[in-house]
Amino acid sequence: MTIKRIGVLTSGGDAPGMNACVRAVVRTARYRGIECFGIRRGWNGLISGDVVKLDEHSVAHIINRGGTILYTARSQEFMTEEGQRKAVSTCKFLGLDAIIAIGGDGTFRGAQALSRYGIAVVGVPGTIDNDIACTNYCIGFDTAANTAIECIDKLRDTMQSHERCSVVEVMGRNAGYLAMYVGLAAGATAVLVPEEQIDFQRDVIEKIRQARFNGFTHYMIVVAEGAGSAADIASRIKAEIDLDPRVTVLGHIQRGGTPTARDRVNATKMGHRAVELLLAGKTCRIVCTVHGELTDVDIDEGLSRKKSILKNEVDVLRAMTGI
Ligand code: F6P
Repeated sequence: MTIKRIGVLTSGGDAPGMNACVRAVVRTARYRGIECFGIRRGWNGLISGDVVKLDEHSVAHIINRGGTILYTARSQEFMTEEGQRKAVSTCKFLGLDAIIAIGGDGTFRGAQALSRYGIAVVGVPGTIDNDIACTNYCIGFDTAANTAIECIDKLRDTMQSHERCSVVEVMGRNAGYLAMYVGLAAGATAVLVPEEQIDFQRDVIEKIRQARFNGFTHYMIVVAEGAGSAADIASRIKAEIDLDPRVTVLGHIQRGGTPTARDRVNATKMGHRAVELLLAGKTCRIVCTVHGELTDVDIDEGLSRKKSILKNEVDVLRAMTGI
């Protein structure tokens, strides 16, 4: 199929760097002589025809902006056959040959569904959770991790002054990747992730006792939201040790902010690759980064894989929190 006109959308939770990716898609399309439409509010926009024509001026000065200029949503209607048929009608009406969808696994499931109606699709991973199995990197993860680390560094100052224990809850939905990365970077006393079996005595209480025995007087416990609530963990610590932990839920702060250089550059490369894949006649692909190299996988295969935390990272974490 000759690609003359494409649509780009962002869907699911927003992630810093999505704008850089949209910009790269639009600029690459213009460079290659094809037209580009922005679909607003995720898959809902494709259902309702909520679209805007994009050119290099529409995407000027957005590479540095968090959020997404296209807005985002999680569409229930697009899960239905009726919703999908409406979306296909919009594609036909607008003459869209292909859709580039930036988001997480829910977004890719939408793309997968659309492809069954003969629309070419390419997915680009954008989620702070970094939980897409076929790629080592998702747009927004680096910025979110740096935001969380900056917050935890600030918390550490006051925890250190008051000789306190802090329990910090990090986002990630069902994945512990963000929490583990942040915990490593923040020098946490203990890190709890859903992928690892948690023994509260061994993984929290003993680590605090050991740190105290070693002469440390403040303690930083990082918990992935998928592994439990910071409030529960704090009250369990209080019940066991003579500490009165303070609770911080970092929440949506982690999703905002100026994207890091890494997120901007990777988002740009991934957006560029998405357009090039379509022009090369490929469809049903997810753009991936594997061991630092840009590549792509079939969307069905990509979605069938399950991401686990890397064993070598768990080993490092054990050593860093083990004395
Ligand atoms: O998937 C991104 C994410 O921020 C998760 O880490 C979190 O669990 C969820 O989205 C929060 O969703 P919402 O923005 O709907 O509260």
